[in-house]
Amino acid sequence: MSSIIPVGIAGVGSYAPERVVPNAWFEEFLDTSNEWIVQRTGIEERRFVAEGENTSQMCLAAARRAMDAAGTTGEELDMIIVGTVSPDQQLPAVANLVQVGLGAKNAACFDLNAACTGFLTAMVTAEAYIAAGRARRILVLGAETLSRFIDFTDRGSCILFGDGAGAAVLMPHADCGQGEILRTTLGSDGEGYSVIEMPAGGSQRPATHETVEARDHFLKVRGRDVYRFAVAKIASLVREMLEGHTLDDLCAVVPHQVNRRIIDSAVEKLDIPPDKVVVNIDRYGNTSAASVPLALDEALTSGRVEKDKLVIMAAFGAGLSWGGALVRW
Ligand SMILES: CC(C)(COP(=O)(O)OP(=O)(O)OC[C@H]1O[C@@H](n2cnc3c(N)ncnc32)[C@H](O)[C@@H]1OP(=O)(O)O)[C@@H](O)C(=O)NCCC(=O)NCCS
Repeated sequence: MSSIIPVGIAGVGSYAPERVVPNAWFEEFLDTSNEWIVQRTGIEERRFVAEGENTSQMCLAAARRAMDAAGTTGEELDMIIVGTVSPDQQLPAVANLVQVGLGAKNAACFDLNAACTGFLTAMVTAEAYIAAGRARRILVLGAETLSRFIDFTDRGSCILFGDGAGAAVLMPHADCGQGEILRTTLGSDGEGYSVIEMPAGGSQRPATHETVEARDHFLKVRGRDVYRFAVAKIASLVREMLEGHTLDDLCAVVPHQVNRRIIDSAVEKLDIPPDKVVVNIDRYGNTSAASVPLALDEALTSGRVEKDKLVIMAAFGAGLSWGGALVRW
């Protein structure tokens, strides 16, 4: 899709809760070990929210940083889109609470559910609005409090996830002069609906004593199926985004932080120098929709993103869903 108005990423920000949870914490109540978790996933620790802390509060912290970086006020925002599967409540949207916190009274607000692809889905949606001239400033967020939705009796999944939020402000590239979005893609395969799911709590199986006792309100993951899909998907997304450019033009690949081994296998297939791949899963685990913007923000603040070089973002998750973006910084 060719943009009518080129769109830029004017500012990025992120937030991770203060509480650090090392792998050893799980050893106290699960048959697992730090060694197994590090070797199979690359995760050493993750952040969990404190009592009373929630998704909208993390969104606000990340949003304020992104808006400072972009030099934008709440009143200037035309839209706020939050990608999340762990909202404060089933309804209304987290985006409405962000609106109040930022005084963004002119913004249309909604959440979208694209799991770990949530941030990229929000970003691609925002890009389309700005490219079409229907909005000028949009705040997009990916944020999750998965610590409240993971099953701490399931050692195969609970060790994987962490909490956090990431945000970006998009505007016409002519207004910000950086982060030009050159290419994007979104895709889905609903045949994989049950690979990653929260089976109860919706219209199909509303909450009952039985669903609670069966722990069906928690996240269920078929890890091995995700593994195969994820290696292939990171590789194909990066190839698609890079088409027509060379590895020399690239300064950073920001993949969804799903598992260190998955990222390494995909990178090996692609022949990308490992130092161009942004990995912070060791410190945050898989933060779902927050993972790409959290890693992008780290790459920006640590100076790994170079002016006029290319950045590729690649994410995938429940749905199944996936998304990619190529940005010239
Ligand atoms: C979950 C994941 C780490 C499991 O790693 P794996 O190498 O595929 O391991 P397996 O599932 O084959 O399990 C191997 C063994 O380790 C055991 N195991 C699983 N979790 C364990 C844990 N936390 N500690 C110790 N042993 C564990 C399994 O029970 C299994 O034991 P068995 O051989 O006696 O049956 C990996 O598949 C993964 O990262 N998948 C994708 C993650 C994901 O789905 N993310 C969410 C969507 S984005």
